Amino acid sequence: MRSGSAESFRANKRRVPFYPWRTGLARQRWLAARRRLWHTPRRLHRINSVALHEVTIRMSEETQQQPPQAPSGDTQPVSPQPEHSAASESHLESTSDEEVSSRGTVARQRMSQRIAAVDSQAQQADAAGRTADEALLALNDLQVYYGNIHALKGISLHVGRGEVVTIIGANGAGKSTTLKTISGLLKPRSGTVHYDGRRIDGVAAETLVARGIVQAPEGRRIFANLTVNENLDMGAYLRRDRNEIERDRERVFTLFPRLKERRRQRAGTMSGGEQQMLAIGRALMSKPRVLLLDEPSLGLAPVLVGQIFEVIRQLNSEEGLTILLVEQNAAVALKTAHRAYVLETGRVVMQGPAEELATNPEVQAAYLGGN
Ligand SMILES: Nc1ncnc2c1ncn2[C@@H]1O[C@H](COP(=O)(O)OP(=O)(O)OP(=O)(O)O)[C@@H](O)[C@H]1O
Ligand SMILES: [Mg+2]
Repeated sequence: MRSGSAESFRANKRRVPFYPWRTGLARQRWLAARRRLWHTPRRLHRINSVALHEVTIRMSEETQQQPPQAPSGDTQPVSPQPEHSAASESHLESTSDEEVSSRGTVARQRMSQRIAAVDSQAQQADAAGRTADEALLALNDLQVYYGNIHALKGISLHVGRGEVVTIIGANGAGKSTTLKTISGLLKPRSGTVHYDGRRIDGVAAETLVARGIVQAPEGRRIFANLTVNENLDMGAYLRRDRNEIERDRERVFTLFPRLKERRRQRAGTMSGGEQQMLAIGRALMSKPRVLLLDEPSLGLAPVLVGQIFEVIRQLNSEEGLTILLVEQNAAVALKTAHRAYVLETGRVVMQGPAEELATNPEVQAAYLGGN
């Protein structure tokens, strides 16, 4: 075969095909485009499937709840709560009694008895004295059930604008149930929740997130298969203000520099403390007006608890963020909050300024490790 002949040209062409991208820059561009095309649908699919998973968890939690007896949106006053007579109550109390540690149990029971009378008066005064207009968040006589388990037995509380309010209590007291009811994951059988002057009980959780009620759930519930950045993106899922989203991401990175270092790391491979930072960071990406934090100190070493609570204080003092904080670590919660509520088996048994509760002998005996 003669070189340069048509025949040899065809043979060479078969062996070394000509593509325009075989040279330098063009090749790099072509490869980058191919990478983008290859990865984007997979990443989106992954994000969507994990989001779907989260929604499924939420729906399964919702379906555990018995449908309310009154039609939804019914503003009729519901029949008064039967005091200590519901059969379900004994179940609840036995469950929670099993769960509480033996230390402090007697003190807690004694405290319940002594302040039972004060409790009901205080709750009534609270409900009457604080209208929904005054407080950013106001709960009035909430009754919440899981099936026939009576979890909240007339909870009334309020959170003022710019306040840090904490709910403390033993295992099974109803702290998480209270937060889930506020954030729309559970629907109360009766009672009301007002936010910024509007009634919101029964409103869908995603609508409430868009209105600024954002929860960092117990156990963090971060998306383990996504990177830190992708988790933060999920927090901003309902937002369209791109520039503000990027500003908020930078703010989260300023609050938690560790997250910036790890922004491309898969969240599931991070330590417990880092995951808690991410859970709070993700909540901040939703642009909250009121941040609901469920046990941010759970399972963390004291030094990390200190860091997380320092950020909580900073968010409140520098940005005026309203925070409702649920904690079992009463010592640190009472140091951080302005006011506190003590919950026991679905009831508020004590409330007041955090400093006062921290020095109260009953609270000290039951929750602060005193005698
Ligand atoms: N999905 C559910 N189905 C049935 N009962 C539930 C469900 N979730 C909570 N409960 C019950 O409701 C009560 C209040 O639970 P909740 O999770 O609100 O307590 P908690 O104060 O947050 O406790 P912890 O400090 O352990 O998180 C408990 O007795 C619990 O057993
Ligand atoms: Mg809980």
